Amino acid sequence: MKLRLLIALTAVLLLTAACAISATRRPAWAPSVMVASADSHATRAGLETLRNGGNAADAAVAVAFALGVTEGYSSGIGGGCFVVLHMADGRAAAIDGREVAPERASRLMFVPRKTSDRTDLSLYSPLAAGVPGEVAALELLSREFGNLPFAEALAPAVALADTGFPIHEYYAGVINSYATRLGSDPGSRAVYFNDDGKPRAKGDYLVQRDLALTLRLLQQDGAQSFYSGETADRIVSFMQSNGGVISAKDLAAYAPVQLEPVRGTYRGFDILSMPLPSSGGIHLIQLLNLLEDYPLGYLGAGSSESLHLIAEAMTLTFADRAEFLGDPAFTVVPVEALIHKAYADTLRKKISRASHLSNPAPGAPWEFLSGIEHHTTHFCVVDAEGNAVSLTATVNTPFATGITIPGTGILLNNEMDDFVTEPGKANFFGLVGKAANEIEPGKKPLSSMSPTIVLKDGNPYLLAGGAGGPRIITATLLAILNALDFGMDIQEAVDSPRIHAQWMPDRLFMEPDHVFDVQQQLAARGQTVDIGPAKSRVQAIMADSVRGGWTGAADSRGIGAAIGF
Ligand code: GLY
Repeated sequence: MKLRLLIALTAVLLLTAACAISATRRPAWAPSVMVASADSHATRAGLETLRNGGNAADAAVAVAFALGVTEGYSSGIGGGCFVVLHMADGRAAAIDGREVAPERASRLMFVPRKTSDRTDLSLYSPLAAGVPGEVAALELLSREFGNLPFAEALAPAVALADTGFPIHEYYAGVINSYATRLGSDPGSRAVYFNDDGKPRAKGDYLVQRDLALTLRLLQQDGAQSFYSGETADRIVSFMQSNGGVISAKDLAAYAPVQLEPVRGTYRGFDILSMPLPSSGGIHLIQLLNLLEDYPLGYLGAGSSESLHLIAEAMTLTFADRAEFLGDPAFTVVPVEALIHKAYADTLRKKISRASHLSNPAPGAPWEFLSGIEHHTTHFCVVDAEGNAVSLTATVNTPFATGITIPGTGILLNNEMDDFVTEPGKANFFGLVGKAANEIEPGKKPLSSMSPTIVLKDGNPYLLAGGAGGPRIITATLLAILNALDFGMDIQEAVDSPRIHAQWMPDRLFMEPDHVFDVQQQLAARGQTVDIGPAKSRVQAIMADSVRGGWTGAADSRGIGAAIGF
């Protein structure tokens, strides 16, 4: 009772100074179908596919390939993806198109032997690439769940690559930021630089004929062309002449995997998200379990009380990520325990309402086993039948290796950096991990991508996911909390200022839009508050309970579009 009174008093005091909800545009609304992606060309590719008789799975294939053409710095056929879908006939599935470590990869391959050795090979070299998985995953999605031939879903991407599109100011800015790296690779130079030797600028047309050719081969011969046909030959010959290790055998062995989504519940909703080798779904459910016990709606969006509780839950969850998570084919991961409500109950005891717990030790989930910017892209599609697809795709960091394989238009991923490349060394995203995520041949690097579908009474209610490395997990969480706990419409839920904590470094990252008093309140609890950009992007769709139909939102931090009909 005393605790309730304390919560009420704290809430009344803080709400006067809190409520950091920035002004935001209205969400898109449509009665029947909706596509929300990080790029308007790709959103239109999905809508065109739906108009032509495709379902949500076909539209997702079209959007993913189109994004590889129009937002190539984030995802593409040289990378990987995760899909979570819920079909109107009740089938639910997850598709794992994650990159795989080649056979010649080894645990210490990126550890410098002498001081003159490069320390960035896991990011910017052909060695940084895992065997790409996106093409195989999209073909599986099309074959198992689509209505249209695979070739038809590829058509908008082929057209965009062939005829080109005017470069958006945002895209020009990204090219400019990475111009040195892109300019030093002949393949990337040919794509992203003009004949006058300058990086392509706003308004220039980006025509990608090599990429169009590779996509046409996919239309003709399917994924086989990529994994054992003409494109495979080009990839292997590039690897052989440029110090890479992906072989014909690695490519031929690549197989996408259809999995059961990881499942949880939150305040009466059912959550479907991405299982391992993503950490995203497990930790999203673990976070929701931890937070379900707090009256977040009452404490208010953006209040120091609710942000503190959410941040503490994030820190505890990422401590577990570093300790326990890795590719389940190589590491025993206590998934059931991590997503167990009873485990969340014990972990929650570590959370103090008044002060921040620095660098907590990981929890002890084994006891509960029954016997949990400019890179990466997320989109969501719902169709008129009620089929729903939530898909996250990536090449890892912006423009990844910066290497484009000549003659193919394929920008090589640098997903090997998602492994622990050296004991104790933080990766690009500042994440540290342990033995569970060390490099082994054939193993998948641990991911944070979290394509998620929230069901209400068995039907899709909210789809969400994002870009931003580990910030994907926390940004997806916040979009869900904002909608379900704080009653925001989907655009506000996506646009509201974010926080992020990932255990190490021991910081609470906050967007500047949070009220200053709130920042001070959190610092007073012991948080080292670090004000900066969100470094995450979310796309989401939510059912409109009043008007019917769907509301959609592309993150206002980016240039995407949510459109329906
Ligand atoms: N490449 C970022 C992730 O999968 O988490």
